[in-house]
Amino acid sequence: MAGILLGVTGGIAAYKSLDVLRILQRHGHDVMVVMTTAAQRFVGTASFAALSGREVGTALFGASEQPGYHHLDVARDRDLMLICPASANTIAKLAAGMADSLLGSCYIAFAGPVLVAPAMNTQMWLHPAQQENLERLRRHGVEIIDPASGLLADGAVGPGRLADPQDIVDAVERRLAAPGGEGPLAGRRVLVTAGGTREPIDAVRYVGNRSSGRMGWAIADAARARGAEVTVVAANVDLPRRPDVRYVEAPTAAAMHRACLAEFPAADLLAMVAAVADYRPVRRAEGKLDKSAADALAVQLERTDDILADLAARRRPGQVLVGFAAEHGPQGLDRARDKRRRKGVDVVVHNDAAVEGAAFEGPDNIITIIGPGDAEEALPRMTKRDCAERILDAAQALVGAAPAGSAP
Ligand SMILES: Cc1cc2nc3c(=O)[nH]c(=O)nc-3n(C[C@H](O)[C@H](O)[C@H](O)COP(=O)(O)O)c2cc1C
Repeated sequence: MAGILLGVTGGIAAYKSLDVLRILQRHGHDVMVVMTTAAQRFVGTASFAALSGREVGTALFGASEQPGYHHLDVARDRDLMLICPASANTIAKLAAGMADSLLGSCYIAFAGPVLVAPAMNTQMWLHPAQQENLERLRRHGVEIIDPASGLLADGAVGPGRLADPQDIVDAVERRLAAPGGEGPLAGRRVLVTAGGTREPIDAVRYVGNRSSGRMGWAIADAARARGAEVTVVAANVDLPRRPDVRYVEAPTAAAMHRACLAEFPAADLLAMVAAVADYRPVRRAEGKLDKSAADALAVQLERTDDILADLAARRRPGQVLVGFAAEHGPQGLDRARDKRRRKGVDVVVHNDAAVEGAAFEGPDNIITIIGPGDAEEALPRMTKRDCAERILDAAQALVGAAPAGSAP
């Protein structure tokens, strides 16, 4: 999708930039790598060359027989420059505009967006010189991807650890998708439901399910990275919230139905990921039920509304609907296929909750994407974020075919 120049500097975290490179490539970006001399003491150029499929830039002067302006040519066609990890030394040099390395020359000659992901010992990170240099870079328009806090390679605990590679790629893609950027869902509104509803029995007890919200969160992250404006209707999700996504709390099936009715008209794409209770207690007891009142307790349940079917019936032309079917057992795939036809949705994502590593709570999922049309794709076990990318790949083409959502 985009041409990225990845600058790698000399620090313990240099090996993590291989992960960053791989994620960027999985997302379709073309990555070219430039390394400082010190970076090559930590990871060899061969790994970056093999993974990127390109020669790695290391020398300021290039090959002696090479005509032209090597130090300017390297960055010329790139859409974005990412320096990861960025050492204290390189940050100081960039802040001063020094160009005595290929990486420094590329930086100062590059007119596009630059993101810097620092990684260093806590004392180095906290040093006033370092903080002043970072402030200077910010003033020059550079985006700093703050390091995480935690156990560092030198045994100390504190800020300085390179941010998570996926978070770094998210920051890159958010920047690419910013106004004027290239995100394929830029200008589109994506509505995601996530988590699991809880239907109260009394003031403290409920009928619930094991959904953590991770799959919905992954779709929200992926849609945001593709430039969409994202709203998440969340049912009891205890995961970090992002500042650039709007959240609507909907703890019960009824609250989720109301929230979806309110949000759906403006959406271009709805991904109904939440595990919404099929049944709820007919009556919610006042206060807390007293266990000394009876040896047995029967809770009568009634059906909840089918939110996806209701929204499908109200959809306007051009709205794209993605449903989830967490089924159990071998007949589940047929039920998921049937669900897609019956409910009139474009794509149904099936997962088999009976299979270890699929569906609830964990970081991974094993899914089959059914639709659009007759398409069906059974995917191996992969992270929920990778699943989200594949789901959006399937649904995005339909969004592209539709006129953008009407603002409320
Ligand atoms: C074992 C070792 C680990 C290092 N780790 C880091 C680090 O994590 N962050 C950092 O800023 N510097 C680190 N350094 C220091 C840099 O490698 C050094 O400042 C070097 O000059 C950086 O060069 P560059 O910015 O041109 O890549 C480390 C040095 C050694 C020997």
